[in-house]
Amino acid sequence: MDSELGRYDYRKGELLEEDLQSDPIQALKDWLEVAQAASVIEPMAMCLSTVNSEGRPSSRMVLLRGIDELGLRFFSNYESRKGHDLAVNPYAALNFWWSTLERQVRAEGRVQRLSDSESDAYFTSRPYESQLASAASPQSQVVPEREYLDRLVDELGSRYPTDVPRPSHWGGYVLVPDRIEFWQGRPARLHDRIEFVLQDKVWRKQRLAP
Ligand SMILES: Cc1cc2nc3c(=O)[nH]c(=O)nc-3n(C[C@H](O)[C@H](O)[C@H](O)COP(=O)(O)O)c2cc1C
Repeated sequence: MDSELGRYDYRKGELLEEDLQSDPIQALKDWLEVAQAASVIEPMAMCLSTVNSEGRPSSRMVLLRGIDELGLRFFSNYESRKGHDLAVNPYAALNFWWSTLERQVRAEGRVQRLSDSESDAYFTSRPYESQLASAASPQSQVVPEREYLDRLVDELGSRYPTDVPRPSHWGGYVLVPDRIEFWQGRPARLHDRIEFVLQDKVWRKQRLAP
């Protein structure tokens, strides 16, 4: 703790330009591996921010379910609040915060839907209970009470006792990043920030002031 202000002081590490690979997707994969090895709770959890048609942002956590040269993949309900936002405004931001490592990563870019076959493949791989819940739940809508949701799940379960087909309103997205920032907490608020910006298909690495 910073004794004078009673605030947390960051001392776990430092971040030099050469510590990160020149490809930020690879660098993010490295940091995700470190977070997993460090037993961070839900290392793949990231905050997704979207903006609606009135320019009003909203945020919620989602799980990273894949990362490659195209971008960062996650799955959700296309008719949810985030789904409606992304339908009118495909630009979004993602944020990871691994507190025990004192590290943050933010990624910004355009979001597109995954193909039906990719969404099918992921949906099929999920446990039956998760398939039921995500297929039955009218995500983001007002429901009368908890029992209503239980009934929806029971009804779907009796219709599909083993495998649930993926509903067309549920599937994957990929955020194709054009900006990714790596942040490492440092003592006395002089944090390290290394940002990658995609310009003419080339990632440029630069340091930002904390
Ligand atoms: C750690 C964590 C992970 C989550 N992962 C997902 C996810 O992968 N997909 C999803 O649709 N909701 C996920 N949720 C629930 C969302 O945060 C949110 O409640 C839901 O998607 C509805 O958001 P919306 O109404 O803004 O669309 C997760 C919540 C938490 C706390």
